[in-house]
Amino acid sequence: MAKAKESFVCSSCAAETLKWMGKCPQCGEWDSLKAKTKTKTPKSKTKISAISISDAVLKNDIPRVSVGIGEVDRVLGGGLVPGSMTLLGGSPGIGKSTLVSQLLSSVATNHQVDVLYVTGEESVNQSGLRCARLGIDNPRFHIVASTDIGQILSVVDELSPAVVAIDSVQTLQGATASGAGTVSQIRECTMQLMNYAKKNDVSMILIGHVTKGGEIAGPKLLEHMVDTVLYFSDDKSNYRVIRSHKNRFGSTHELGVFEMQASGLHAIENPSALLLEQRNSSVPGSCVVACIEGSRPLLAEVQALVVPQTHGMPRRVTLGVDTNRVALLLAILAQRGGLNALASDVFVSLAGGLKINAPDLDLGITLAIASAVLDKCIPPDVMCIGEVGLSGEVRNVAQLESRIKEAKNLGFSRCVIPAAAKLSKNKHRGIKLIRVASVKQALGLFQK
Ligand code: TYD
Ligand code: MG
Repeated sequence: MAKAKESFVCSSCAAETLKWMGKCPQCGEWDSLKAKTKTKTPKSKTKISAISISDAVLKNDIPRVSVGIGEVDRVLGGGLVPGSMTLLGGSPGIGKSTLVSQLLSSVATNHQVDVLYVTGEESVNQSGLRCARLGIDNPRFHIVASTDIGQILSVVDELSPAVVAIDSVQTLQGATASGAGTVSQIRECTMQLMNYAKKNDVSMILIGHVTKGGEIAGPKLLEHMVDTVLYFSDDKSNYRVIRSHKNRFGSTHELGVFEMQASGLHAIENPSALLLEQRNSSVPGSCVVACIEGSRPLLAEVQALVVPQTHGMPRRVTLGVDTNRVALLLAILAQRGGLNALASDVFVSLAGGLKINAPDLDLGITLAIASAVLDKCIPPDVMCIGEVGLSGEVRNVAQLESRIKEAKNLGFSRCVIPAAAKLSKNKHRGIKLIRVASVKQALGLFQK
């Protein structure tokens, strides 16, 4: 007979103590410690045996089900893996339910399989209205309103769908007495769903709420348990961006861009073109740069405004780029380039609401400021890329080839690049590469 021993578990952070306390020693929550009866695990009667790693490794690639939405497929690493758990987090109203409804509909249509949408937050009618708005009308798209994990699993068992989406994991309730959304409930329900998914090769998508700090609500354990964690946000730009924070089956550096329209989320396959769409290249102070988002290059416009200082200290105001970096580049421009704007008010912004803090944009920011100071436009067909060092040298950046290729695709005919860049010959026909070794040399381009 196993010996019972009492301990206390915090319902907020799952910390365990041997004594009852009014305040949880780990998270500081009051009155959150609840008694838990611990039983020593008896020796298992069913035997399992270990296998050799060469038998465990799949001989072929991981099987994947393409979801049919290119931006999501790329972020997932090629599609949903059968039997996998994907957690999708995001702030309220960002479009999680919309994205998942579109995804399920796309899978059902493309693969002729059954899919199930479990809603714990809305009524079937509300979710149905959303689907109608999205133009989803597929008999293989099933919907059920429930928060009871037992009920949900029996529906899943009966229907055997290829993909199940749970909206949201915080609404689920299992056998434990505590309320929905508590640590123990989330842990228990996720564990049950995971066991079911792995055993039956069903892909599960869990929608998760986020806290004020932007993290998925509930225990961190949730993120440890699932295979993939995706975040849907709009903090990068005016568009909705999906990116993966954890992916057992692919890279975590990918991102997908969407725009919310009246008929749902529309994938933006070429964000560069969109970011440059409203560019006015006949005004000084504008320079096109190429940054890397995930594995894909993204062309963006740096804008600079240099005005005589009005009062007090000269101001440095930036949007989307680091203020300290701009101050540093202004000093380099004055000291190594011979172009002094230190006494002026300087405003620098990255158009399109992007936020990028990478040194790759240094040369672009420097040239945009120089263009504003000299009142000379950078020609519309020029893209600039390079990191700038304190001695005024232009340093090489990673993935230069893909950045040049993106510029070429978008009709740019000249690229200002670091002199030290090593590029494969003949690969960049049709685009002129202007190599610069220093800021001074780059400024010389304005004289030509
Ligand atoms: P929703 O997917 O319900 O967000 P979440 O599940 O993340 O809370 O929808 C988000 C918002 O998008 C909602 O305020 C209404 C809007 N929306 C559109 O603009 N177009 C659409 O086609 C849909 C379905 C929603
Ligand atoms: Mg929702």
